[in-house]
Amino acid sequence: MEEGFNPNGRNGVGETLIAADRVRDRVRELGAELSADYAGRDLILVGVLRGASVFLADLMRAISIPCEVDFMAVSSYGSSADSSGVVRILKDLDDPVTGRDVLIVEAIVDSGLTLSYLLRNLAAREPASLEVCTLLAKPDRLRADVPVRYTGFEIPDEFVIGYGLDYAQKYRNLDHVATLPEGVAPPL
Ligand code: IMP
Ligand code: MG
Repeated sequence: MEEGFNPNGRNGVGETLIAADRVRDRVRELGAELSADYAGRDLILVGVLRGASVFLADLMRAISIPCEVDFMAVSSYGSSADSSGVVRILKDLDDPVTGRDVLIVEAIVDSGLTLSYLLRNLAAREPASLEVCTLLAKPDRLRADVPVRYTGFEIPDEFVIGYGLDYAQKYRNLDHVATLPEGVAPPL
């Protein structure tokens, strides 16, 4: 590790929005809720790379029923802060999901445009059910009508980093959700 660098320290990171223990408690609650809701079904968690990687890793271990995981990677043609809703699939699922109970796992729903595309794309594969679980949602930014069944936390319209979320690909390794350091402009 770089000398003096503490990914969870104060250096280089803004205010803590959601502390690590609050994230952990909420992820456990969501895991318990999912375990009850999906008992006896054929659950497959679809993680959206790269942001959902940290949340998914913790969430799946909070789920006490059998489940599988698969991943998709998508890129928006818009800028990093304002997604256009025009989405390109960089990595598709490895396995078919027809007839299965698909749960999309996202780190954040901002405008909802990325999710709206994913829902349409996955619905076309005719899963038995299709729901969304996101750690964070910014209700004030929502521009698409996306049904999100499970939300960890609703947050204000502010750019956040950590627990999988990046700014210029950095800060994903923070164990909590934070704002950007003072003086750093959010992406356009
Ligand atoms: P959408 O606007 O809901 O389509 O979100 C598109 C993507 O933008 C999300 O999946 C995140 O990768 C990214 N994003 C949106 N808001 C934030 C944020 O506050 N911090 C980091 N990434 C964000
Ligand atoms: Mg990003």
